[in-house]
Amino acid sequence: MSDSAAEGFPNLRLVAHPLVQHKLAVLRDKTTPPIAFRQLLRELGLLLGYEITRDLPLERRPIETPIAEMQAPHLAGEITIVSILRAGLGLAEGIRELMPMAREGHIGVFRDPKSKQPQEYYVKLPEDPGRALLIDPMLATGGSAAHAIDVLIARGVPASEIRFLCLVAAPEGVSRLAEAHPEVPIVAGALDSHLDSHAYIVPGLGDAGDRLFGTL
Ligand code: PRP
Ligand code: URA
Repeated sequence: MSDSAAEGFPNLRLVAHPLVQHKLAVLRDKTTPPIAFRQLLRELGLLLGYEITRDLPLERRPIETPIAEMQAPHLAGEITIVSILRAGLGLAEGIRELMPMAREGHIGVFRDPKSKQPQEYYVKLPEDPGRALLIDPMLATGGSAAHAIDVLIARGVPASEIRFLCLVAAPEGVSRLAEAHPEVPIVAGALDSHLDSHAYIVPGLGDAGDRLFGTL
């Protein structure tokens, strides 16, 4: 299987790598305890981090190897890893390992259980975030991600410089982001079937934040 754009969702790129699919299967399993859940989220961050950073621009800068001078490609400009709290923290760990030079921001939102609307409780971002890698394992209704993208745009990040990484996406959330923020590409491990009556992803993996932090 190769990575692909999902049919009908031009804003979504699915990563079909066998390691991603295997780790995602273990993560979904309801018997996987928080300690393994945490470890898997980090590992999936490492693997999917490769995909979400695939098209970051490079600039050549002079260096000297032990043998010769050269113009070597380096990442250009500032990059900020932005976790959507809480569950984004687990996935962002892997991204941080890949890019220890990146700055980090946090956007705290929880979904109101009745209205399913995102409730913002915390925002901390660098003054000038540059490009933003927005991280949250779950894209359900899309409300939380759409809100976080609004926050980034209000802080001066152009939509064209935002990329969204998740593990499991519902069609409803992908469509919502396509409508609200068509310029923001989504990288995901899986596109699931639908949302249930509580707006949980089916088959999904349950409540990612609760499973990560053992607050079930
Ligand atoms: C989960 C998840 C996303 C959001 C997705 O967070 O991590 O942020 O729900 O749902 P949506 O696409 O319908 O907005 P939750 O609200 O459970 O908060 P938590 O991470 O603090 O548990
Ligand atoms: N948030 C989660 O953590 N899981 C879902 O399935 C939906 C929202």
